[in-house]
Amino acid sequence: MDFVWITVALFPFYKCVECSGTAKEWTYTGAVGQPEWAEFFPECGGSNQSPVNVDTLQTLYDPTLIPVQPLGYNQHGKRPFILYNNGHTVQMALPHWMGVAGLPWHYSAVQLHLHWGSKVGVATGSEHTINGQSTAAELHIVHYNTEIYANMSEAKTQENGLAVLAILIEAGKDVNEGYGSILNYLGHIRYAGQNVAIPAFDIESLLPDNLSQYFRYNGSLTTPPCHQSVLWTIFNERVKISHSQLTKLQTVLYSSKVDGAEPIALQDNYRTTQPLNYRTVLSSFIPVSVKIYTAGEITAIVIGSLCGCIGLAVIICFIVKTIRLTSSWDVLPSIQPAPQSRSQNMAQEHKEDTALKMTTNPTKPEEAAPQPET
Ligand SMILES: *[C@@H]1O[C@H](CO)[C@@H](O)[C@H](O)[C@H]1NC(C)=O
Ligand SMILES: *[C@@H]1O[C@H](CO)[C@@H](O)[C@H](O)[C@H]1NC(C)=O
Ligand SMILES: *[C@@H]1O[C@H](CO)[C@@H](O)[C@H](O)[C@H]1NC(C)=O
Repeated sequence: MDFVWITVALFPFYKCVECSGTAKEWTYTGAVGQPEWAEFFPECGGSNQSPVNVDTLQTLYDPTLIPVQPLGYNQHGKRPFILYNNGHTVQMALPHWMGVAGLPWHYSAVQLHLHWGSKVGVATGSEHTINGQSTAAELHIVHYNTEIYANMSEAKTQENGLAVLAILIEAGKDVNEGYGSILNYLGHIRYAGQNVAIPAFDIESLLPDNLSQYFRYNGSLTTPPCHQSVLWTIFNERVKISHSQLTKLQTVLYSSKVDGAEPIALQDNYRTTQPLNYRTVLSSFIPVSVKIYTAGEITAIVIGSLCGCIGLAVIICFIVKTIRLTSSWDVLPSIQPAPQSRSQNMAQEHKEDTALKMTTNPTKPEEAAPQPET
């Protein structure tokens, strides 16, 4: 009797899970892809969304932004960390004693996770971009404000509730041991819903060396429900993982469950950059405004330099030809006359001397003439 009542009572709820406006499932592409997020999760359509593009020429230098100080990141203890494939990313819970200082409040660590792309040799996968440039991947270390809020679930929906450290990741030659502590275990959590206990390791090994240069702005979670509660710190220095480590991250995981008919690769789990909408991005340093060229500008520069080089080559050819021509005129008289003896040469020189005297002598009296008499 009771069972029937419950079934009847819950039926409309179950039915409505499928209906428009109440979906709890979301993806990066497809039916509840990024363009649809705002329809199902209204905060995703807000005006303070993340990620953003950081235009370094538009950032405001704030000398009060002190270096970020990780707290207890290297005191990992002996208890293993739990790595979890939640279908959207690989996530790792962090012990509550880890935290971060150097921010307006004290924040305690909750979890870290990654975002990445799918293409080999193309630097797309990061969520934040700097001067329009993506990197291959991005690590987020999520913290909540323990000074104002009781726990993560309370903090994540509130103003100043969360602080996320963002680390931009590039592919390079060398294997990164720190990142290896995570990436080496992805094979154990290929399917969504799987988790694995891994040896605890120093979380500081995931950070760049320089924690004093960063960008800071107010934004949101980059996944639904996109709560606008995040104080972002994006480090200027990037970290490098090896190409094979990146490939592992891009190819090992599935966004589908183990019982799914066909596994779906977990790739391109990054949100496109959102409008800044008059927010200010602060910088803790004066960014060197390295001009980043677009493909069009690069083409223009290449063609321009090519034309310049051709022009220069033409000019050089012309000059060389002119020099050859004039020097051949100089050389000609010395070749043509028959070899002369040394006495003949001397006689010649003597003749020239007398000729010179003859032409200069007559002018002398004229020059002397105007001298006034005393
Ligand atoms: C978080 O804190 C709020 C307020 O103190 C409390 O009501 C809630 O049960 C807590 N949630 C968890 C998951 O601990
Ligand atoms: C970070 O970079 C700044 C500027 O280049 C430098 O002054 C500072 O010493 C660096 N800090 C570390 C820890 O490397
Ligand atoms: C973020 O917002 C708070 C107000 O909630 C403000 O005090 C703070 O200056 C903002 N920080 C940045 C970096 O814009």
